[in-house]
Amino acid sequence: MKLRLARVARHGAARTASTLGLLVLGAATVPPGQAAPKAPPPPAYVAACQSCHKADGSGVPGVFPRIAGRMGSAAQSAAGRKWMIANLIFGQSGAIEVDGKPIRGIMPAFARLSDAQIAEVLNWISAGQGKPFTAGEVASVRAQPGMNPAKVGQMRAELAKAGVIK
Ligand code: HEC
Repeated sequence: MKLRLARVARHGAARTASTLGLLVLGAATVPPGQAAPKAPPPPAYVAACQSCHKADGSGVPGVFPRIAGRMGSAAQSAAGRKWMIANLIFGQSGAIEVDGKPIRGIMPAFARLSDAQIAEVLNWISAGQGKPFTAGEVASVRAQPGMNPAKVGQMRAELAKAGVIK
């Protein structure tokens, strides 16, 4: 608790507000069997992701998908884990539907993040569901040839069909 307070103090009032927001959101929107991420997010998430997906992962309905409380099943499936990693490294395009609203956006590629940073961000998003992502697991997906946002979108479509992504 001491550590948590020190951290909150260091990051200031904005972080405190987003931490509280997460607690409220966690209660309201996370379905059974899906855990919401615990605040605070890792630095790579704050720098690269929160401008669109928001500090608590709640996103913007119809524009940027909510990722909090939605990635647990994917994190527990081999194909789902590959997709989650590929989504960050290569980006994603294609029409999707999240929380009953269509989204037609493009997720930018974040190949510039290190394998360790990507593993850390995915561990935060999946909130301890599935085994921990490691830098080695990220590196093996990064090495796959011929990947691009549209292919990641196809991976996602198959997972959605199989009910792994909702
Ligand atoms: C510029 C805005 C933007 C940024 C920055 C961004 N994303 Fe996304 N993200 C999107 C959009 C838009 C989609 C949906 C793309 C589509 O339509 O297929 C998406 C999709 C996703 C998905 C898959 C959701 C689903 O249901 O298909 C995950 C997971 C995700 N983003 C995580 C992240 C993480 C982690 C970061 C930081 C490394 C990040 N995003 C940065 C806009 C963004």
